[in-house]
Amino acid sequence: MGRIIIFTGKGGVGKSSLAAAHAVSSASGGTKTLLVSTDMAHNLGDLFDVEAGREIETIMDCLDILELDPDWIMQHEYPDLSRVLGKLIGSNSLPETNPGDKFLLPGFENLFSLLKIRKLYLSGVYDRIIVDCAPTGETLSLLKLPELLTWYMEKFFPVGRIMVRILSPISKLKYKVSLPNHKAMDEIEELHAQLVLLQELLQDPEICTVRLVCIPEKMVVEETKRNYMYLNLYGYQVDRVFMNRILPENTGNEFMNHWKEIQKPYIKELESVFVQVPVTRIPWYPDEVRGLAAVQKLSREVLQFPGLFDLPPKTDREIYITVPNGYKLMIPLPGADHMQIKVKKYQLDLDITLHNYNRRIPLPDVLKDAKITNLMQENDMLSILFELEEKPEEKKDTSREIEKRKQEREAGKEKRKARIAQFRKGKNGGAV
Ligand SMILES: Nc1ncnc2c1ncn2[C@@H]1O[C@H](COP(=O)(O)OP(=O)(O)O)[C@@H](O)[C@H]1O
Ligand SMILES: [Mg+2]
Repeated sequence: MGRIIIFTGKGGVGKSSLAAAHAVSSASGGTKTLLVSTDMAHNLGDLFDVEAGREIETIMDCLDILELDPDWIMQHEYPDLSRVLGKLIGSNSLPETNPGDKFLLPGFENLFSLLKIRKLYLSGVYDRIIVDCAPTGETLSLLKLPELLTWYMEKFFPVGRIMVRILSPISKLKYKVSLPNHKAMDEIEELHAQLVLLQELLQDPEICTVRLVCIPEKMVVEETKRNYMYLNLYGYQVDRVFMNRILPENTGNEFMNHWKEIQKPYIKELESVFVQVPVTRIPWYPDEVRGLAAVQKLSREVLQFPGLFDLPPKTDREIYITVPNGYKLMIPLPGADHMQIKVKKYQLDLDITLHNYNRRIPLPDVLKDAKITNLMQENDMLSILFELEEKPEEKKDTSREIEKRKQEREAGKEKRKARIAQFRKGKNGGAV
């Protein structure tokens, strides 16, 4: 089964360099690999000193690169879907005078980059697809697009014709949108199926994992922690962290030695956040990473460890559960005695200490003012109860919404699968 590895992190931390080094390592081992960039500020061409773009470019044996242009893909590869999306999203928003303007959700067209990645994956040409992403915020928006859209479609355009027939007059009244006619519904079903399948692919921990790149500096550490927390919340599997630009112990230069001291507490903090994820340190090189030879050098020097492309072992992750006055956070801590565990909350960080072991868990915004009211041990899970002053239902918060949607998604998964199967059967096995 092929693999997709997504690289994300703050701007300038080394995402493209590390994604490229992974791609070279993969190809050098004889695995057919595609390095693809979803960052509108593409730089794969610059990195390898070649003309890159919409067309696939071969860099070396087993290694191709591609810079995705979502607008172009939307118009040339998915004309039908983009028309449906235009109708759907544009139907109760902006006038259709400028076709590029009618989407309600900014960055919407980026969905087509993801659809293209899925298409490339399904083509079976590549055994590994390495994705070099835009900086954190944009990537998080990109990765939550399929779920956000599925949710939107299911809310406003109940998929399944019978439902449409029943709900149409109600929907008009309740949501103030008019439902599309039956032909359009077929196309909407098709889009819905594509979105569900896309989500399933990206959130399948046996296929797709995310690798975070960061450097030990205050702003980057904070952003990396948030990024990690949101990726977990959205159901993505983070399987490795790269701490880039690490200075050696004695640089022989006073200025650099001073920087080394500045890096130390941030390295420690990052390690306490990523106790469950392997962390790889990358030295700070005197030269920038540019050209195939430089990427090969990086791949040789820092990525030569066994299991670089192995799937991570299956681990339980933190789970948030809504309880009457707040939330219960459940953390897997096998074998630990909760009487010896100390838990301390500082605004949006939670420190868990057991003997010499310290773990820092970044918390979602909704828990900023929450108080810890109880600690419990249930099997191998440590449960922490957070009490909110307001009930979570009353507080409008994105992470609460996301969590709710996640639960809804889980509950609706089987139903959707059945609907998609039925839809395909109805279309005589039409390709999705
Ligand atoms: N370990 C390193 N040592 C020295 N320079 C580096 C290192 N990692 C990355 N760089 C350089 O830093 C700059 C930003 O790296 P890049 O991979 O483009 O980051 P991003 O894709 O996250 O914006 C580039 O000029 C790159 O060559
Ligand atoms: Mg980059």
